[in-house]
Amino acid sequence: MPLFPDYVIKEVADKNDIYDVISQTVSLKKSGSSYIGLCPFHNEKTPSFSVSPRRGIFKCFGCGEGGDVIGFVMKNENLSFFDAVTKLASRANITLPEVKNFDKDKSEKRKEKAQHIYEINKEAANYFYSNIKNSPEAIAYFKKRELSSSQVKAFWLGYAPDSWTGLFDHLVSKGYTEGDIYDAGLIRRHESGRYYDYFRNRVMFTIFDSNSNIIGFGGRVLDDSKPKYLNSPDSSVFSKGKNLYSINLAKHSKKKFCILCEGYMDAIALISAGYDNTVATLGTAIGDSQARMLSRFFEEVVICYDSDDAGRNATNRAITVLRGQDKLKISVLDLKAKKDPDEYIKTYGKERFNSMLNARKTDMEYLIDYFGENYNLKKSDEKIRYISELTQYLSLIPTKVELDVYASVVAEKTGVQASSIISQCGVKRAAGLAISREILML
Ligand code: UTP
Ligand code: MN
Repeated sequence: MPLFPDYVIKEVADKNDIYDVISQTVSLKKSGSSYIGLCPFHNEKTPSFSVSPRRGIFKCFGCGEGGDVIGFVMKNENLSFFDAVTKLASRANITLPEVKNFDKDKSEKRKEKAQHIYEINKEAANYFYSNIKNSPEAIAYFKKRELSSSQVKAFWLGYAPDSWTGLFDHLVSKGYTEGDIYDAGLIRRHESGRYYDYFRNRVMFTIFDSNSNIIGFGGRVLDDSKPKYLNSPDSSVFSKGKNLYSINLAKHSKKKFCILCEGYMDAIALISAGYDNTVATLGTAIGDSQARMLSRFFEEVVICYDSDDAGRNATNRAITVLRGQDKLKISVLDLKAKKDPDEYIKTYGKERFNSMLNARKTDMEYLIDYFGENYNLKKSDEKIRYISELTQYLSLIPTKVELDVYASVVAEKTGVQASSIISQCGVKRAAGLAISREILML
């Protein structure tokens, strides 16, 4: 439910000149019809933050932040939409219509609750970390995985002891309530009504959101038992399908591309090898909101998944999902020889990884080669199936030029005319359209 009518929001935005508002905190220099300065939302030495008074918007070409004057105040002062509008209205002497207070209360309460959960999670992370020194099994495990004590510290790793209520008792002793600890996803409730720790006898990985709040945990068994990883249940602050491990570090990396991998251990290995632009999904296939988040911070995503069948299928799915973001370049780093990036780096070292990275293929180059290996292109029927499989992906290409480039590669490989391949993509697209029209007509 909107808090204010649209015309009020428009008036507030119109009467607060974006240059006046932003120049109070950011020093801006004129550049053509806009102004530029150092972005207040990420660290930078050369200005990439631009303000256009004519269009009433700001945009940072470094970190991707952007929006109107209300958005700036929200982000800059960490205010809710309601509070930012109220503040700017008073600045421009605009009287706001009465709105039901209860909406404000509700959003304030949600914010407070989230803050409280972050705090409990932080206490839990400290508890997990402090357990390591008394746990020979955890120390041995980190050693086995070649994780140094400085890595353990830097990545907020820890250990949940083999105890039913270790964390629960600790948090209660710190004054937190059962209800809040439960809402943070750290305990479960037994039929008897008693609570017990969600994570037991597991090595713990702390998960931060893009603003460095602790939103959840992943816990790994120390042996081969199942499930290998247990993640915090989805809660009001945590969603496996919407967050990315280490996005808080990656967004400050100042690199144009990020490396997307599957596992916590992969991310840790790559970051430690100097790729602080690495993120990992949290045990689910990548989804639209994660793709959107990546496109806000990066120009390119390098998919670096496990080289087993599951990883390869996940790579193809990820290409489809990431292609949904128009501006994003997508490429694939195929590790071939080793199971995952962690194992690759540990076996071959970072130089060899780096040359693989530099030799990465674009998504379509990768798919053309990948499907090429599955078919005998000397046989007509297999050639047809190959092209049919590929066109599912070629149909995702948004521009004619790009499609032309790849259709020519496939043409070269198969002897089929590029124009036929392109029109086959057209057929797929048209079929897709017909389906969505049908849905619309229902
Ligand atoms: P992997 O099994 O590839 O884990 O799962 P990994 O990171 O390589 O772990 P190690 O090296 O065996 O310790 C990739 C990711 O999928 C999620 C976790 O986020 C994991 O990092 N996962 C995996 C789960 O959520 N649950 C599972 O049971 C297994
Ligand atoms: Mn793995």
